[in-house]
Amino acid sequence: MYDHLTLISGRSHPALAGEIAEHLGLPLGAVGVSDFPDGEISVQLDHNIRGCDVFLIQSTGPPTNDTLMELLILIDACRRASAARITAVIPYFGYARQDRKDAGRVPITAKLVANLITKAGADRVLTMDLHAAQIQGFFDVPVDHLYAGPILDEYFQSLGLAPEEIVVLSPDEGSIKRSLKHVRQLGGALAIVDKRRSSATETEQANLIGGPIEGKTVLLFDDMISTAGSIVGAVEVAQAHGAAEIYVSATHAVLCGPAPQRLREAPIKDVVVTNSLPLTGEKQLPNMTVVSVAPLLGEAIRRIHRNESISGLFD
Ligand code: R5P
Repeated sequence: MYDHLTLISGRSHPALAGEIAEHLGLPLGAVGVSDFPDGEISVQLDHNIRGCDVFLIQSTGPPTNDTLMELLILIDACRRASAARITAVIPYFGYARQDRKDAGRVPITAKLVANLITKAGADRVLTMDLHAAQIQGFFDVPVDHLYAGPILDEYFQSLGLAPEEIVVLSPDEGSIKRSLKHVRQLGGALAIVDKRRSSATETEQANLIGGPIEGKTVLLFDDMISTAGSIVGAVEVAQAHGAAEIYVSATHAVLCGPAPQRLREAPIKDVVVTNSLPLTGEKQLPNMTVVSVAPLLGEAIRRIHRNESISGLFD
């Protein structure tokens, strides 16, 4: 058994760590994390964690290499300080899209990252909406994989949309399964954006499978919005087919490069995302709703600590 549950936050998302701590009614463990003048990361745990059940909270989002390295160093510090068990709580797991060899002579970086986290000393991992669920198998330690879908559905249910007016539009073939889950919760019909590259002209064509969506309230769900190219492309298809209102939703709001501007300029009523990543500065959009995953992560941490089942939180 473990002694005290100890929460430690890296610097990637202190606001989310604070919310999780508040949910659990615990303070965040004192830890000094800073940068040496040459950019190397320095970590100093300011309290005794010997024998503790430590949960290290760190999303490995941009700047991904820094947040990942910081997580590895924090794990190492906890291991050398004799923590009884270390759980890496990674609300957003970066490098997840490099999960297979889709061309010759390329790495599988998601597997490399899983190896690094395990080798550093993590005994288990708690994460959310991995880009590909199979990444769980890249780890040789237990992985608890949560889904934010039900939290996003709760928000949409609170809008009181009439099910017969809803079309859940899958932004690509890879998102069909996720979109179907939302149809089951919210009602409405399913349609799919079918993106094809014409070999002759190399121009991309996006057709609609299903529908009609004319005059409907269209909801688009994706696991992440990175540059927003995929989702805004799907929004354009919805608009071209006469959607009355378009909502866009994703668990992870990476929002890098042109994403904020693209989302601002697109005909989107509301961008509904979670706080798995920090949303500061230009990433805060006027038409954005942020739902919190802190209660879900907090509850999972509580159950893991008590060795209680968390399967009820998976769906
Ligand atoms: C693709 O498979 C993913 O589910 C996302 O649609 C994609 O990674 C988002 O990237 P971006 O926003 O840059 O198009």
